[in-house]
Amino acid sequence: PKIRRGKEFICTISDDRGDEATYAGYPISSLATPETGFGIGDVIALLWFKKRYPKWATDYIETVLKTVADHGPAVSGAHNAKVTARAGKDMVSSLVSGLLTIGPRFGGAIDDAARYFKYANDNTMSASEFLDYMKKEGKTISGIGHRVKSVRNPDLRVSGLKKYAKAHFPQTSLLEFALEVEAITTSKKDNLILNVDGTIGVLMVDMWRSLGYAEHEIDNFIEAGTLNALFVLGRSIGFIGHILDEKRLGMPMYRHPTDDILYNVALADEI
Ligand code: ACO
Ligand code: LMR
Repeated sequence: PKIRRGKEFICTISDDRGDEATYAGYPISSLATPETGFGIGDVIALLWFKKRYPKWATDYIETVLKTVADHGPAVSGAHNAKVTARAGKDMVSSLVSGLLTIGPRFGGAIDDAARYFKYANDNTMSASEFLDYMKKEGKTISGIGHRVKSVRNPDLRVSGLKKYAKAHFPQTSLLEFALEVEAITTSKKDNLILNVDGTIGVLMVDMWRSLGYAEHEIDNFIEAGTLNALFVLGRSIGFIGHILDEKRLGMPMYRHPTDDILYNVALADEI
């Protein structure tokens, strides 16, 4: 009898063995040529979720990517990318150095925002019960708060995403819940708004629910880090721009001014 050799790898998203490689069964030429009308949102739906999504959903994904592409040079990731480029490092190293700052405080709070808001919603908590729960757990609420944006200085990216969802999503129930939470947190402190990470996270859950995914499938997407990946992908566009800017400007190596550092070094005791 023929014995099949065990395979080292399994691939369920693309196939390069024919004349033309396919993404979830679709030949690249059927997606990549402008006349076909497919956008990058369709490519993401195929390669990340192995599905064709309706236009309102792929447009939402593209809106997210465009919305997070950059937020200026001062934020953690762009700053790191710029400093690395100015240390003479190459494009990939500078990009990666920027990407490595994406995490729980900066840009990478999307999965946790979706996870906790969804958890509260699944367990029919009210907004104030959710806040009590997070406090008891000793957890910062992912998706809430911003260093510079506030009720008085609203984040127009958030307004844009909400406006898109209200106009095009079949339902936005998790967004509504997150806005109830925001109403309480902003009443305590002006900058505790539903931020861009939080908005993207809850709206992705609303998108998946509207597309008919089961709750455990949505939980699996979140556990896999799918939502932070949207920020990684989008913000790479901006980081690359900042790195090219540094190369173009031929800026010298960066050294932080010592007058901006509090040196507070005591003489070490002998053990
Ligand atoms: N949940 C609960 N309390 C909060 C939160 C939050 N999400 N954010 C701030 N606070 C509280 C702090 O505990 C602190 O309280 P205290 O004054 O009683 O000590 C106060 O608000 C100020 O906190 P800071 O950390 O100084 O606030 P800052 O403005 O520096 O923080 C940050 C901004 C880092 C975004 C913060 O709000 C946070 O960690 N949020 C959660 C993570 C998150 O969503 N990050 C994504 C931001 S959007 C983006 O990066 C694209
Ligand atoms: C961002 O998109 O980088 C931000 O929301 C963070 C910031 O402080 O501007």
